[in-house]
Amino acid sequence: MYNWLYTIIIYPVIFILPAYVANGAPVIFGKGSRPLTGATFRGRPLLGRHKTRRGLAAGICAGIIVGYLESLAPGFGYMLAVGMTEAVGTHFGDLLGSFMKRQAGVQEGHQVPVLDQYPFLAFALIFTLPIYAYYPGSFPSVYGIIFLFMLTWVMHRLTNLGAHRLKIKEVPW
Ligand code: CTP
Ligand code: MG
Repeated sequence: MYNWLYTIIIYPVIFILPAYVANGAPVIFGKGSRPLTGATFRGRPLLGRHKTRRGLAAGICAGIIVGYLESLAPGFGYMLAVGMTEAVGTHFGDLLGSFMKRQAGVQEGHQVPVLDQYPFLAFALIFTLPIYAYYPGSFPSVYGIIFLFMLTWVMHRLTNLGAHRLKIKEVPW
């Protein structure tokens, strides 16, 4: 009876959880770590000083751990592979977004709506596509994906505001 609830909301959230955790973990673990790179490209920083080594490492590890834990549930064995690809895809997208912000002349930490929320989600999903070939039923439905794009906008706002209130993030976005 509540099948739509599962396919549009519950399953997509289960599926994307490793990416959400991979994206959020650096806020907690990246503090005080060294920037990934100080390199420049076309006279501008390649990334930002906020993209750190420990943040990257912790984010990828955290995403994989969540995928592993989910894979222990009966019928969800493929979630380990999903977690691994999402974790790497998340950070690929996050760094790409940072690169685009720097090239556009935006300072680290300043907000750019859409570019702050979606590269990580888009690349987490894209990186999992090869798994779809092996487990055709594993990828969320189109409506599930649309729901995830809406949910990500809300979650990004709420978690960043929360992290700012808890004083673990400088800015509330
Ligand atoms: N972070 C980190 N390492 C990463 C990614 C994030 O340490 N690879 C931490 C940093 O403390 C960063 C925080 O997570 O300040 C929030 O990340 P995010 O909002 O994505 O970075 P911004 O400060 O917005 O940097 P940019 O402008 O480059 O996107
Ligand atoms: Mg930001």
